[in-house]
Amino acid sequence: MCRCHVSTRRGFLKGAGACAVVSTLPMSMVELAFADSRRNFTFAYISDSHIQQIKGTQFVRNWDRGLIRAVAETNLLDPKPDFVVFGGDLAQLGKKEEIDHGAAMLAKLDYKYHCVMGEHDYYLDLGEYWSKLFGPHYYSWDHKGVHFVTLNSILTYEDWTHKRWPTAMQRMVEMAGLDNPNGSPFMVGEAQCDWLRKDLENVPKDTPIVLFSHSPIQKIYKGWNFWTEDAEQVQALLQPFDNVTVVYGHVHQIQYNQIGNISFHAVMATAWPWPYPQSYAQAESHLPKLTVPMNRADPFFERDATGWQLIDLDTGRVAMRYNLYNNTNRAVAFNPKTGQPEDTVFQAPQSRIDAQIHY
Ligand SMILES: [Fe+2]
Ligand SMILES: [Fe+2]
Repeated sequence: MCRCHVSTRRGFLKGAGACAVVSTLPMSMVELAFADSRRNFTFAYISDSHIQQIKGTQFVRNWDRGLIRAVAETNLLDPKPDFVVFGGDLAQLGKKEEIDHGAAMLAKLDYKYHCVMGEHDYYLDLGEYWSKLFGPHYYSWDHKGVHFVTLNSILTYEDWTHKRWPTAMQRMVEMAGLDNPNGSPFMVGEAQCDWLRKDLENVPKDTPIVLFSHSPIQKIYKGWNFWTEDAEQVQALLQPFDNVTVVYGHVHQIQYNQIGNISFHAVMATAWPWPYPQSYAQAESHLPKLTVPMNRADPFFERDATGWQLIDLDTGRVAMRYNLYNNTNRAVAFNPKTGQPEDTVFQAPQSRIDAQIHY
């Protein structure tokens, strides 16, 4: 389901107030060259705004500002992206007020947008209100020679969902915690796998597939639910295709990986960055092996690892341009020579910047 909005906000942003925003946009975003006119387009990806109500019309200001900034900056893009994807966790505790407030901010987008379900949107009313605004929990569409699929990957066991918690809000809060042992592993589930199998039946094997999920369709770190329990079953459905990319939210950090023919890319949050699992002393090293972590200049300044993404598909493979609000921008693109996504600047060990040391 997608919605189209025309905003009157652009006129304002083009005025004096827009200058500061424009100056932060890297030139690379307006200098895209396309090899294949069929795929002559970009799209923007905004995720994990975690809009949180304090009371009444009062919301956590930082999370609001993160989403407002992403919407304003994507509206200034030139050339225009064909559409925007919002990658889930629009709300913090799934409340109607939070979803409404987030939807009002997304309505300022000048573009059509597609939404992905996050666990913070789901576990209060099992996605009922979200659906009224944004449509089905999983769906697919075709655009300029690319087959796009959106899954709801944050489902879990029926017993956990329906039989364990005295109230819906308690269920929501238990699933919302990053490392809460009362949470439950995410999964896509059989019904959606059956749907996906049928959906892909008529797609030619050389058509590029781009799949959006909230949790990674790979197993990174179960302790923080950077994990999808039935990831292998979903990957198996995607393996017959020549060219597959999975883009996911939830982890609030730059990650990328290659498993078989599937490239994986995580997106940043607009709300706050999670640390990398390997930075926690009690965790083993859990990071996709290709990923060069973000260089957090200041681990106590949440804005230096938040932002949004511009994605281009000129080769049918995803090239991610990470636009960080207060840190160096990053670009991760498929390298046809090595057959995997790589950071275009920092991939080689000798090119990496040491993280700043804090005392
Ligand atoms: Fe999130
Ligand atoms: Fe999430």
